[in-house]
Amino acid sequence: SSIANKMNSSLGRTIKTVTVIGGGLMGSGIAQVAAETNHQVIIVDQKQEFLDKSLNIIQTSLKRIIKKKFEQDQQGGEKYFNDVKNRIKTTTNVNDAVQSTDIVIEAIIENLETKQKLFKQIDQVAPKHTILTSNTSSLPITEIAKDVQRQDKFGGLHFFNPVPVMKLLEVIRISGTSDETFQTLLNFGKALGKTTVSCKDTPGFIVNRLLVPYLLEAARMIERGDATPEDIDTAMKLGAGYPMGPIELLDYVGLDTSKYIVDGWKKLYPNEPSFQASELLNKIVGEGKFGRKTGAGFYNYKK
Ligand code: 3HC
Repeated sequence: SSIANKMNSSLGRTIKTVTVIGGGLMGSGIAQVAAETNHQVIIVDQKQEFLDKSLNIIQTSLKRIIKKKFEQDQQGGEKYFNDVKNRIKTTTNVNDAVQSTDIVIEAIIENLETKQKLFKQIDQVAPKHTILTSNTSSLPITEIAKDVQRQDKFGGLHFFNPVPVMKLLEVIRISGTSDETFQTLLNFGKALGKTTVSCKDTPGFIVNRLLVPYLLEAARMIERGDATPEDIDTAMKLGAGYPMGPIELLDYVGLDTSKYIVDGWKKLYPNEPSFQASELLNKIVGEGKFGRKTGAGFYNYKK
């Protein structure tokens, strides 16, 4: 009933300050959305140049949004831009960043040991109430949280690229996650303007579990010579109503990211038939072509 829902949502705490670790495409998008929805945000990355790049990604995206949202109101647009920017700070020091924060969202490289080490450190310096979350696309949240004491304040928050546009947020709880933390994460998702779904801590959660095998099968279709990349993309756009075809989407998500995801799954679940690699994908990644962000992938983006 609606009363039960109200009681549930009042269980959670309100998130005001957000620390995003990793200023890549996902981290930047998460930071932007959090700042646009009135949260105080700190982005952490290892080098100042990564942070500068992150702020650039955010500014470019904000300008696209403002162009539409404030079409007739240049002053309003400028104010929005400055207000959002002023809510975002950056630092290269993790310990400083988590000193006083309500939630940490980790969006660094998909490497289990690196994530475990990072959370062990954060767990020791962050205030007791701070909730720790990972935006991992493919690694088990339970494993990422392995060395953390505050199991009750750990969970998964999985966003989608481009974060400012995609409406979904997957919220994952592990066995130790408390009801209060889970409810706080659902409330936070709503506060970010996202629709939340939840799923057990299983490979790829909902979206990637279905999406990644489909993307790989599209790559294998090219490999087998069944159809051209262009025809595969046209087919899924016009025949299945997808906004992007699978090959375009692989380039968009990043071929390196996609390869990481499947390689990880294959290692953990060698007998799962939908987690098989694509030789063509591996070959293109081996050539240093990671998709749109490097100017080339399955397609060429250099003008
Ligand atoms: N920031 C702000 N606004 C953006 C944006 C961004 N980064 N990207 C797109 N937009 C908005 C803009 O308003 C843009 O209008 P504009 O061109 O006037 O600025 C509008 O979206 C439309 O964009 P485009 O004309 O460039 O192209 P589309 O109409 O195709 O929309 C899209 C772009 C929303 C990305 C759409 O193609 C889409 O939904 N693609 C599929 C994306 C998807 O499946 N993402 C999930 C990937 S899986 C994942 O992320 C999980 C991870 O774990 C791997």
